[in-house]
This record gives sequence, C-alpha cells and structure tokens, in this order.
Amino acid sequence: MTPPDDPNRVLIFDTTLRDGEQSPGISLNASEKLEIAQQLARLGVDIIEAGFPIASPGDFEGVQGIARADYGPAHPIVAGLARTHVADVDAAYNAVKDAARPRIHTFISTSDIHIEHQLQSTREDVKGQARAAVAHAKRYLDDVEFSPMDATRADIDYTAEVIQIAIDEGATTINIPDTVGYAVPEEYAAFLAGLYERVPGLRDVVLSVHCHNDLGLAVANTLAGLRAGARQVECAVNGIGERAGNASIEEIIMLLHTRQADVGLHTGANTREIARTSRMVSRLTGYPVQPNKAIVGRNAFAHESGIHQDGVLKERRTYEIMDAETVGLDDVNSIVLGKHSGRHALAQALTELGFELKGQTLNTAFQRFKEIADKKKQVTAMDLEALVTDELRSEIAGYTLEWFDVEASSRRPPHATVCVTGPDGDQLTGSFTGDGPVDAIFHAINAATAVDAKLREFRVDAVTGGRDALGETSVQVEVAGVSGAGQGVSTDILEAAASAYVRALSAAVRRQGALAEAESASAEVPEVVRAP
Ligand code: KIV
Ligand code: ZN
Repeated sequence: MTPPDDPNRVLIFDTTLRDGEQSPGISLNASEKLEIAQQLARLGVDIIEAGFPIASPGDFEGVQGIARADYGPAHPIVAGLARTHVADVDAAYNAVKDAARPRIHTFISTSDIHIEHQLQSTREDVKGQARAAVAHAKRYLDDVEFSPMDATRADIDYTAEVIQIAIDEGATTINIPDTVGYAVPEEYAAFLAGLYERVPGLRDVVLSVHCHNDLGLAVANTLAGLRAGARQVECAVNGIGERAGNASIEEIIMLLHTRQADVGLHTGANTREIARTSRMVSRLTGYPVQPNKAIVGRNAFAHESGIHQDGVLKERRTYEIMDAETVGLDDVNSIVLGKHSGRHALAQALTELGFELKGQTLNTAFQRFKEIADKKKQVTAMDLEALVTDELRSEIAGYTLEWFDVEASSRRPPHATVCVTGPDGDQLTGSFTGDGPVDAIFHAINAATAVDAKLREFRVDAVTGGRDALGETSVQVEVAGVSGAGQGVSTDILEAAASAYVRALSAAVRRQGALAEAESASAEVPEVVRAP
C-alpha cells in the first residue's frame, strides 16, 4: 500500500485479533473472530490483522475465515502475521490470499538484546532474514508490511539499514514497534525522525506505529509518531494485547476526531460504532473494561459531583468534551422487544445491532429470547447483545454444560451434581460438596471432566438494571499453567456461572492442545529464509 493521496488521512490497523488475542486467557473461536472482524469493518478500520496463521491450525482457519468473508463495500485489508521463516510466510499467504485486499506482515527483531538472547543470531543474519522474507512475501503479494521488532531499544543506524533492505525488497509499509512499551513520546518521535533522515525512501512507503502500554504511554507515543509523520496506527479494541496491551483504538479515533482542528489528522472510522465494538470485544474475550476507561468505560460520560451534574444539565459542554452519541452510546436505548415480538422483529433488531444470524443460530437465539422475554417485561439491546454473544460462545469445541443440581442451605455444606457433554459427545457427570453453591458446582465440573482447573477470577455483572436483569458472569481458570476465560449469560446466576466455568475450562484445554501442537511443529526446526 502506498501512502494515501490525502496526506492527513491516518490508516487504522486493528490488531485485536492478533496482538489482542495474545492476552492471557483469551481464546476466540472462528465464529467469534469473524463476528469481531465484521464489526471492525463496520467501525471502518482500514486493515484487520486477523492472526498469526502459522501458530496453529485454529489460527490459520480463523484468518482464512476472515479473509474469505464478505464485508460489503468496506473491503478492509486482511493481514496475516509471519516471522521471517519460509513456512510462516507461506502460511500467512495461504490464509489471506482469498481476501479482496490481502497483506503479509513479516517481522524480525533488530535490538541486540533480542538478536543475542532470543534469536541467538547475529546482526548480519537478521539482515539476510529480513531481505529474504520480504522478497519471498513479495513473490505472493504487492502489499507487504515489515516490522523491526523491539526497534525502540535497537541501534538506530542498524535498524535503518534493515528498513532500507526491506524497502529495497518492496515492503510497502514499515512499522516501528515499541514492543516493550519503553519509549516516551519525544524519544519515539525523535527515533522516527532519525529513521526518516537515514532512510529517505521511508517517505515513499507508509510509516506505521505500534505502541505497547507498559508505561501507560501507548496512545501518547502513537500521537507523537503521527506528529512525526507516521500515517498508519496499530491498535486494539479496549487496548487489549500483550502484557499491558496495545494503544487503544477508541482513544486514538476519538483523539483525532475531538482534536482534529489542532492535530489536523483524520481517520475513516465511524465513531458511532465505537461503543458496540468495545462491548462485543469485551464480551467475547472476557476482558472487562475498567469503569473509568477513556471513551468506553461505564463512567466515561457519567457525572457524580453535584457541581458537574448541574453544569451538564445547563450546558453539556461545561464538563463534556465529547458527546456520548458520537461514540454510539445512545443506540442501546433505541431497541426494546417484548414477549409478543416475533422472529422477524428479533432478526431486524439483531441486524441493527450488527449481528447477521441465520438458520439454526437464529432459531436458538429466538428460543432463548422467548425464554428471557417470558421472565423480563422488556428485552433491551444490551440483553440481545449479551444473548447473541452467548450463543456464539456455545459453538466453542470442548465441553458443554447439560444440567446441574445444587442443594444449598445455611445449615450444611452445599452439594452439586453436574452433567457435561465431552468433546467426543459422551455425557459425563460429577459431584462435589463445597464451601458455597458456586464452589460446589465448579468442583463438580472438574470431577465430571477430570480436568484439574483452578479458579483465578470470577465476576458477576448485571447486563442492565432492575431486579429481573440478565446476569453475566466471567470466569478465568488455569489448567496446568495455561489460562482460559469464559463467560455465561442467564437470568439464573448459578447457571451463568456454570456455563462460564465450563467454557473457561474448555478454552484452557484447547489452548493447551494448540500450544503442544505448536511446540511439536517448532521442534521440527523451522526452515529460516536465508539471504540468497
Ligand atoms: O509488539 C510487537 O513488536 C509486535 C510485532 C509483531 C509487530 O507485535
Ligand atoms: Zn505488539
């Protein structure tokens, strides 16, 4: 991709499904990834980094599904990540090749600390690998991105040499990662300026920024990078990603939108899709959004002090620099269904919310909607979103909750029996007498599955207000050092907790399998692309 005709247009490269998915405990199935990709397209991102295809067959299929999807007129670029190994580049190409606009993103570290300790290689060898990987990717596609990983801790002259090589071989985007979130804004901007000086050809390709948030500076560094001339921003929804995460997409979009007059840059994003995108990613990943998170936190537009409330009632702008409507927070009040609403009304409401459910998934969603509508007078957009994302989760391969019995009393320890269907379709039952009803259910699930899962986090939230609100639970477990997250939604909190636990356990078991697969594949010594 060459720099956009409009010099002030910033390309949004979303890496929620790649760097974001690397957050501990997150494990999305193919339909969840596709739902998120479709929503990212509605949000108007320019590039979706869909995954790391060599990592596992599941990752490959996830990327391929996203590449093959129909996004209507949006046509975001779909990128697949690859190390400089031949097999990585081949896998990335095969996974993205059916996209309307495919991209291969290849990377190798240029910092001595990575070259010496992680790659156990030399600067010369890294140059050769970068040259050969970009050249190999270019045989497949025009659109090739190259990242010198850990660039901000690397020698600038050496990094510039590697970038020059990548550009000579035809890289069309050069991304400068602050991999460990170490840089401060002035330093990052100076580093980019230094690269422009050393590599004049950098002005003929797209310069990209990729900032991690270890010191809480990811968005500040991103803005500094844009001011230094970068025109692609790598970011993730709700700022998820390795460790403290990536720069948050919603903060960057709204920063450029709100301060456009001063910063002078703009994106192609539809800001009204921000809130929905954030809720969807939070639900499907099981990563809650902190209440005071900028733009999408529950309190981002709430005013507690009397003085502030008084001011906002008189004139919103007294204490608000953005309008909640601009980020789509008003949409949730626009849809209300009841027990007399039919399948057509449900499908239409779901379409408005951005879900295209068909066939059996729509039937099951309708059935669950009816059950909920019988218990609640009004089913709101928030309820529907929770219900549909819950349906998507149930497609995860692994264990499924069938039923549970729990006897709870303040006079004796609670006892639970559960039945789950195993990955091979067997019905498995287990019982346990625990400290409380939830504890008894969780241990009974361990007994039924014979998986020794340890509970790490358990959270219960109400989807909406009111006594008849749907309950949404989030669970994180660890199985032999591998974490898994799961969520459940129901009007019955115990049922929501049991489903969430079974899903978290399944996710951890699945990740264990994928890690074992990846380990045995790398034991076969990957062929590294060498300089010709
Ligand atoms: O943080 C990083 O360096 C990355 C690269 C793969 C771009 O995620
Ligand atoms: Zn990263």
